[in-house]
Amino acid sequence: MKGAASVERIVPYRRPPPGSQPEYLHPSYASSVRRAPTRPLVLLPHTLSEVTGPVFGHADVGPADQDLTARHAGEPLGERIVVTGRVLDEGGRPVPHTLVEVWQANAAGRYRHVNDGHPAPLDPNFDGCGRALTDAEGRYRFVTIRPGAYPWKNHPNAWRPSHVHFSLFGPAFTTRLVTQMYFPGDPLLPFDPIFNCTADAAARARLVSAFDWEHTVPGHALGFRFDVVLRGRDATPMER
Ligand SMILES: [Fe+2]
Repeated sequence: MKGAASVERIVPYRRPPPGSQPEYLHPSYASSVRRAPTRPLVLLPHTLSEVTGPVFGHADVGPADQDLTARHAGEPLGERIVVTGRVLDEGGRPVPHTLVEVWQANAAGRYRHVNDGHPAPLDPNFDGCGRALTDAEGRYRFVTIRPGAYPWKNHPNAWRPSHVHFSLFGPAFTTRLVTQMYFPGDPLLPFDPIFNCTADAAARARLVSAFDWEHTVPGHALGFRFDVVLRGRDATPMER
């Protein structure tokens, strides 16, 4: 009887509501057809290295890492923006000391990457990568430029909406989460297979940042707010 009572106390992990996270297989997103698992997933046991690292200190990530516009002698071209928000748990509590990494295309829609063949100009004053640690209130903040839309080969005349890639690391490699932030009012959003991998419209909306006067810097940069909820009913859709 004692054993039965303890079993009753187990609170099961609440799985995401159906449609609130991207499916592995989303046929209109061509790459998902090739990489979606065709067999049940195999759970691998964690090892010590996976649950104890990486460890980042404030000495490793400095203020210069948060300003993508101040890496070079000149200013990057494009519309300067502030992207800021909070990392929150399922109860709305801040998650401090989380490594937030971002990467993005430049204002012309070109990545500084060997695999980017889009014939748009590179910007010698823009690398497109940044990182920050969340503070005690779970806040992060980047200064960057608004990325341009770019074409891709998913289907004829396919264009990705403007977006910023996000990676979040908690205290271990196994806690890494990856997602993308979009901009409000982007006319390409309804046509983007990656954005639409998440079936539920309310969940998809959590991928779209909000224009924010509070974080707009007068005469300098428009502000956009993007909170990331790690799990629970209001979880941000994450790439799988
Ligand atoms: Fe991208």
